[in-house]
Amino acid sequence: MFERTETSLLDPIVALSREYAADDRRDKINLGIGVYRDSSGATPILDCVKKAEEQLVAEQRTKDYVGVAGDDEFVRQLSAAVLPSLKYGSEIVGVQSVGGSGALRVLLDTAVRISPSTALWMSEPTWPNHKGIASAVGIDVRHYSYPGFKTGFDLDGLFAELAPARPGDLFLVHACCHNPTGIDPLPEELAQIADFLSKRGIVPLIDAAYLGFGQSLETDSARVATFVDRCPELLLAVSCSKNFSIYRERTGAAYLIGRAADNLINARSVMMSIARESYSMPPDHGARVVSKILGTPELKAGWQSELSAIQQTIARNRRGLAAALRHHCPDRDWDYLDQGHGMFGLIDAPKERILKLRRDKGIYIVDDGRLNVAALNENTIEFTVTSIVDILMS
Ligand code: LMR
Repeated sequence: MFERTETSLLDPIVALSREYAADDRRDKINLGIGVYRDSSGATPILDCVKKAEEQLVAEQRTKDYVGVAGDDEFVRQLSAAVLPSLKYGSEIVGVQSVGGSGALRVLLDTAVRISPSTALWMSEPTWPNHKGIASAVGIDVRHYSYPGFKTGFDLDGLFAELAPARPGDLFLVHACCHNPTGIDPLPEELAQIADFLSKRGIVPLIDAAYLGFGQSLETDSARVATFVDRCPELLLAVSCSKNFSIYRERTGAAYLIGRAADNLINARSVMMSIARESYSMPPDHGARVVSKILGTPELKAGWQSELSAIQQTIARNRRGLAAALRHHCPDRDWDYLDQGHGMFGLIDAPKERILKLRRDKGIYIVDDGRLNVAALNENTIEFTVTSIVDILMS
């Protein structure tokens, strides 16, 4: 069997992490995979997470299974944190998932099981694993154009591209902090997109991986509510990896939102079957930690202020990066970087130069020019910018 196997290519983000790990230069800089790093280069464990973990260790009495849908309390609390106006059980239902990627996989498997001819519309560019998951599910993928190096959306152009979409097709939306561009539609543009989808019977599939990293938890979550207010049915993947800084715990939830409780409950049973057939039951720890934080007022307040501090650091890094690029390379327009949100932004450069940046300077950005602003700090920013200008812009 193995003799007949060819190498399977890993997506460029994971491949880059492996290449970075194998590089033994001490001054290498990792601006690849989307992980927040503080000024010492470490990805800290939040104080609220440490405290919740201490309480859990003291309280936990069993390691019995959590069940196929995971921890119901966690699923309800996370739903209330993101969409407080929705009644859990009749307007929104969900299952705990293995991170945000696991939520996307379960949601897409569910959509295809319910309607096998559904197509999935995704932005070009998008997160490479969107394509990976869609291809593993076997769903028909269509693309719509997305701005990479300018601000502002051509909504008429977008709607024209979506003309062939059929009712019941899925439209993948990044809730905020678009990956890889960092460019998000303005709230009024988002409302127009949601109105268009609703009118055409297209179902939003919202990937909410960075809530709290854009502007604030409330403002970023309000972007999800824009779709909920306008569209009768939605699929929603929520990740806790970034905003609780618990990347390796693989914590998230997959939600279905709709106006008929019976239909939601039936569709949830499909999600539960898919979970059972895929991995049986999700892991417990990350969900218990999040549940403990969301259910304990002092821990929740601590989390909100730690999350807000991370958001501010990322925004400061973004402004610092754009300012330094403007200074060293004034001929190019850097407004799109400045005005973006979240961890990522694109640098317009050919792949061979990006590989040269890696080779000559030990600076790792993704092959498509995506750079993780959240991993920069005051010690690395100047060297990064002068190296980018030297190698990518010359
Ligand atoms: C990223 O885009 O770097 C993150 O979402 C992490 C990942 O799994 O790719």
